[in-house]
Amino acid sequence: MKSFRKDFPIYVSNPDLVYLDSTATTLKPKTVIDSLVDYYSNYSANVFRGIYRISEQATEAYESAREKVAEFIKAKRSEEIIFTRNTTESLNLVAYALGRKIVSEGDEVVVSILEHHSNFVPWQSLAFETGADFKVVETDKFGTLPNDWSSIVTKKTKIVALTFVSNVIGIPNPLKKIIKQIRALNPETVVVVDSAQAMLTSKIDVSDLDCDFLAFSGHKMFGPTGVGVLYGKYKLLEESYPFLYGGEMILSVSVAKTLFQDPPFKFEAGTPAIAEVIALGTAIDYINSVTVEQISEYVSDLSGYCYKSLKQEFGECISILGPQSAKSRKGIFAFKFFDFHPHDIAGILNSYNIAVRAGHHCAMPLHNHLGYPATVRASLQIYNTKEDVDKFIFALKQVKKKLS
Ligand code: ALA
Repeated sequence: MKSFRKDFPIYVSNPDLVYLDSTATTLKPKTVIDSLVDYYSNYSANVFRGIYRISEQATEAYESAREKVAEFIKAKRSEEIIFTRNTTESLNLVAYALGRKIVSEGDEVVVSILEHHSNFVPWQSLAFETGADFKVVETDKFGTLPNDWSSIVTKKTKIVALTFVSNVIGIPNPLKKIIKQIRALNPETVVVVDSAQAMLTSKIDVSDLDCDFLAFSGHKMFGPTGVGVLYGKYKLLEESYPFLYGGEMILSVSVAKTLFQDPPFKFEAGTPAIAEVIALGTAIDYINSVTVEQISEYVSDLSGYCYKSLKQEFGECISILGPQSAKSRKGIFAFKFFDFHPHDIAGILNSYNIAVRAGHHCAMPLHNHLGYPATVRASLQIYNTKEDVDKFIFALKQVKKKLS
């Protein structure tokens, strides 16, 4: 099994680190770090504002990143790509800029119980503020969404917001099939996809998926923190209100009236995260050089190994959330281990230099629905190896000894 570890400089200063928290944020390859340093060292000017060489260079690099993102998710045009701070901001942008325009009393706003708080709370707030009905689609005990959406989507359904891959269950939802059904049931419904955890699991094609909006973060796909993306169908972006008001999002301002720019600039007020946007473009170059297919295959194989090892060693004493099979796992293992407290487990794993997350992972409704107050979550990426998994199993055995 090939490892991509050498591309990630963090292992130089932390050779014994077993990083199993890529669902929270991935590590960064050297090319991405170099890209940030390159901008600040060689052309750190503002974008769109300067009629001088390094500002033009920065603007060109910034816009080239937009083209790379558009190409990466197969958007029809680069104007459909808006840079935000993160997935959370992207989703709030839609709830605020379009939600408040199209949703009113008596309408329905639909999410699933699988959602991260950032794709749950903005819609809940929108519904509560407007007097719309907030409908939450439940899953079975394995976190699987219903196949049939005919009793869910009605003529009153204005928005359906769904996660592509839950940050707890870690198995892709069949969104293409679900969106097709939603379109047939109500062609007016706006479909918003939280793709934060899906960008490295399969090649995303927004045209094929036929979603209206897709939100994701740079830092969960080898890019820097501080930059997120919102893809939106151009017509809907045109119809939406602006989100933040200020510099660069206007065409003209007078005491009597302000005219706004067209998308995407209408939604990018103020100085953006220039270095981070450019470095996100570099992260996409890195992903393309490895290929999403190879990343996905590597992580699936390692996940299969991890699932089997955990079950072989601990059997029924470990409950892994989601479908009970090694297949189609995309690197995410949220689990209950005996009756030990997740924070105690994570603390002991840390003493073995193993980084995991403990808690509800910003998915309290899902944890409540599945009957777990909290879990430990280990997540795998291409820099992890079978040796990392073996160290994780060994450390869990020590947890068992210490806490039993
Ligand atoms: N949303 C991130 C996670 O699941 C932070 O950990």
